[in-house]
Amino acid sequence: MTTRRDFLSHLSRTAFLASAAPNAWRLEWRPRFADDPFALGVASGDPRPDGVVLWTRLAPRPLEPEGGMDGRRTPVTWELAADEQFARIVQQGRVTAVPELGYSVHVDVPGLEPDRWYWYRFQTGEAKSPVGRARTTPAGDAARPLAFAFASCQHFESGYYTAFRHLAAEELDLVAHLGDYIYEYAPQQGQPRRHATREIRALDDYRARYAQYKTDLDLQAAHARAPWLVTWDDHEVDNNYADEVGENGMESAEQVRTRRAAAYQAWWEHMPVRVPRAASWADLTIHRATPWGRTAHLWVLDTRQYRSDQPCNDGVKVPCATYGAAGDTMLGEAQERWLVEGMRASSAHWQVLAQQVMMAPFDFDPGPATRVSMDQWTGYPVARDRLLRACGQHAAGRTVVLTGDIHSHWTHEVRAGWDRPDRPVIGAEFVCSSISSGGDGEDQWREVPPAMAANPDCKYHSARRGYVRCEVSDREWVTRYRTVPYVSRPGAPVETPRTFRLERGRTGLQPG
Ligand SMILES: [Fe+2]
Repeated sequence: MTTRRDFLSHLSRTAFLASAAPNAWRLEWRPRFADDPFALGVASGDPRPDGVVLWTRLAPRPLEPEGGMDGRRTPVTWELAADEQFARIVQQGRVTAVPELGYSVHVDVPGLEPDRWYWYRFQTGEAKSPVGRARTTPAGDAARPLAFAFASCQHFESGYYTAFRHLAAEELDLVAHLGDYIYEYAPQQGQPRRHATREIRALDDYRARYAQYKTDLDLQAAHARAPWLVTWDDHEVDNNYADEVGENGMESAEQVRTRRAAAYQAWWEHMPVRVPRAASWADLTIHRATPWGRTAHLWVLDTRQYRSDQPCNDGVKVPCATYGAAGDTMLGEAQERWLVEGMRASSAHWQVLAQQVMMAPFDFDPGPATRVSMDQWTGYPVARDRLLRACGQHAAGRTVVLTGDIHSHWTHEVRAGWDRPDRPVIGAEFVCSSISSGGDGEDQWREVPPAMAANPDCKYHSARRGYVRCEVSDREWVTRYRTVPYVSRPGAPVETPRTFRLERGRTGLQPG
């Protein structure tokens, strides 16, 4: 028990040390760890021409409450070097990991040089973190090439992250993650791996779930390899939630907001993001942009937080009476305005929408009827038409949509609206499959081949697990689909079943 006198004497001692030597009280205490406090690895993200965010979280026993930390504010030092051996340290500093933020560390390093690689590491007490590789983006007027990969959907129980192992072996400038980084579900029977906790609803549950996922060494290797751009989808909170409407519609808006606050905070704590903290964790603004010189402008979007509820009670179905309501929205007004005005002002060639749900209107009915997904952009035809017409105005021939969510690879040509077939093709949509969600996978979903004739804009579909690699210059865009034949055991090889190309000044997709 701390008495008032103890407290006062502690306070005066701290005050004395602080006045005698600034920060000396911090130096007094060197943390000691029986287990590696860097068991969750390191990461970097949201690069700019002059900076990048470095991340880690102290969690010596990842699955325990507070990650096995003892409740004390803990000093962490960081170093950023121009070489892998740390012979030339460019910057270093010290931060404090606090229990209120799950002992997470975010360092937004300023003052770096554009378009170059750096190496970074952390230390607390005697414990040193693994080394990560980070880089800055090219300056605004530089036409520099970009090689990046994008991925999504990594349900831990469904299988191994072999795809990340292969991704981490590639030469990449960036990795974009389009959501479903965790799944909220309780453990299920008969899976290759197992969630350590029940369905997650509270902050400590979400923290423990992220910690479990982040103990995966393939995932850690992918994070350490290059900076990431991360957005979320639904499972970071609750399956198919929309704004303040939960999955089963039983919860009050207030309950959904409480859950969202816990989920959004845990997401922020575990991601290498430059996302300003909001007044309430339930309202975390994460849409943001990463320009890559004048080669590409990557718009990282949030299609969950502000969307209107899915029409027709969600699902894949024949449109009902509430379908196509005039006020439907996927991005919310503010994000949509920010995106359209940003595309209008951007001088970069490729305008890239890094987002969650499929934009192309895939009709699963092979006959004259229509059956579409109400959770995807097809469920929001008014909002989609408005956005695609803006893309057609500001980025015709230069629009590229990157999508996750549905655990399968897809390729589509994108039109400036799909309500009339005479609308021109303005770019392409590339959809990445899951890293692990859905288990081993199959060549194709059974219902897709018979429906292909009814969907002429769809050029490719595969239901294997994997990720997508893109090589981009201001002349052309090359997309390579990577797949692994199984995830139920480790060690699958990687294959490249399809490649597509977009060329500057030429309409539509070309074979690779
Ligand atoms: Fe998913």
